[in-house]
Amino acid sequence: MTATTPPSAVTEPDGNALPEAAIALTETSAPAPEPTAPTHTQASQTVSDNVHNQRWQSYLKDCKELIHLVEPLEVAGRIVKVTGLVMVATGIKMPIGGACFIPMQDGGRVEAEVVGFDGEHLLLMPQTAVDGVVPGAKVFSMEVTETLPKPQFGRPPRRRAQDRARHFPVGDGLLGRVVDAAGNPLDNLGPILTDDTAPLNGRVINPLMRAPIEDTMDVGVRAINAMLTVGRGQRLGLFAGSGVGKSVLLGMMARYTTADVIVVGLIGERGREVQEFIEQILGPEGLARSVVVAAPADVSALMRLQGANYATAIAERFRQQGKNVLLIMDSLTRYAMAQREIALAIGEPPATKGYPPSVFAKLPALVERTGNGARGEGSITAFYTVLTEGDDQQDPIADSARAILDGHIVLNRSLAESGHYPAIDIEQSISRAMHNITSKEHQQAARLLKQLYSRYLRNQDLIAVGAYQPGSDPMLDIAINKRDQINAFLQQDIDECAYMQDSLQQLANTIA
Ligand SMILES: Nc1ncnc2c1ncn2[C@@H]1O[C@H](COP(=O)(O)OP(=O)(O)O)[C@@H](O)[C@H]1O
Ligand SMILES: [Mg+2]
Repeated sequence: MTATTPPSAVTEPDGNALPEAAIALTETSAPAPEPTAPTHTQASQTVSDNVHNQRWQSYLKDCKELIHLVEPLEVAGRIVKVTGLVMVATGIKMPIGGACFIPMQDGGRVEAEVVGFDGEHLLLMPQTAVDGVVPGAKVFSMEVTETLPKPQFGRPPRRRAQDRARHFPVGDGLLGRVVDAAGNPLDNLGPILTDDTAPLNGRVINPLMRAPIEDTMDVGVRAINAMLTVGRGQRLGLFAGSGVGKSVLLGMMARYTTADVIVVGLIGERGREVQEFIEQILGPEGLARSVVVAAPADVSALMRLQGANYATAIAERFRQQGKNVLLIMDSLTRYAMAQREIALAIGEPPATKGYPPSVFAKLPALVERTGNGARGEGSITAFYTVLTEGDDQQDPIADSARAILDGHIVLNRSLAESGHYPAIDIEQSISRAMHNITSKEHQQAARLLKQLYSRYLRNQDLIAVGAYQPGSDPMLDIAINKRDQINAFLQQDIDECAYMQDSLQQLANTIA
């Protein structure tokens, strides 16, 4: 046996396997070790061999300790250009979606996300205002890098680029709280107490593993429970112009729903509306089982996008815990507009109505994350508001949303103007899951009420001028008779709650 033969196995005296780095070290600092098991069995093994082994072991132990002392090299890039919303950095390699920060001279920092690249240049979208960034400012990556190859049991491996990006607080510690798009409290109630964190972009659920929509979700609003029954795990759009009662309707659902947890994403709305929604519409009892993520209109486009993704990530974690979540996103249109702002700033050509193609890819990516989880998990029933400017249902975002959602509830301005609240247009609205989750009698009753309602509307003008002769259309006669009852059934006060059972009972009474 020669003096250079390394020890038979790279184990410490206490039997722990050495980290891979240390094994690699032995291979480079000593001649390549051949499988040496036979040397131990050789009779020529002597005391000097053991000393040799011990030396090797103490050498490797030293190496191991040295590795612990190594400070990871900090790679920094430099800002070479800032135009409008976009910053250009060079000298650093980061993946799309990666997070980085630029330390400022006053001790603060600007956080940014990689949204594209051009040759060696990274295109960064800042989260906050960029005042104070100087030419050549340093850029540091915020990617989570594991410094040591430690085995980490019970923690999912961070293999995806998204998982190595920043993590944000999720879980029960957020209940009753109002946070911004980065998980910082906005409600002056102290720090968020939760150990649980998640990346912004959750894992996509295999569509074949998703539980189907089978149960109904009670939203506490009569017209929806009875006429547009929502399934647990269904995703609906709430289509309306501004001031028609979207926020009030969403707030009613948040307060009266039977869901376990409510996650509210207020994206791109006016700051005043955020406060109004929380204090007046949601109220303390609604807030207690809710999490509100607010990214109002005055925060950067990136934060508005992030707010929507963060609210979804929070809902996803509750779903993993087996809870039935109601996710309310106000509004999907503002989310699309934030993406348009970013895409145009980094040079993507506009297509439909100024929206670049990436917007229409982002919408389904966001919406597909909600819905039912895998079997055994909970569900996310989601409501997305869609602004239809000038009550134009042909807006490209409205069109795209209608295609990716499992139903739409249209609010009608003329109903709102006549004081009919919630101003749900039951003729134009549809819940695509209703057919599968409701009884035959329920469906028939709902259809009959809709027919009576439509019949009256069609002939409203004739009736008003007295041109209609009672008796010539029996169906219309019933419609005229039931007119007030139907309207009373469809209307609901802000502080009135109508559970599913009562809604169905009242539907039956109305058409009886
Ligand atoms: N169910 C309701 N009962 C009475 N008034 C309502 C109801 N829903 C909405 N409103 C009225 O409509 C106004 C605008 O509603 P809001 O939800 O803020 O509109 P949007 O969010 O669509 O801009 C409210 O301030 C309120 O006066
Ligand atoms: Mg509103």
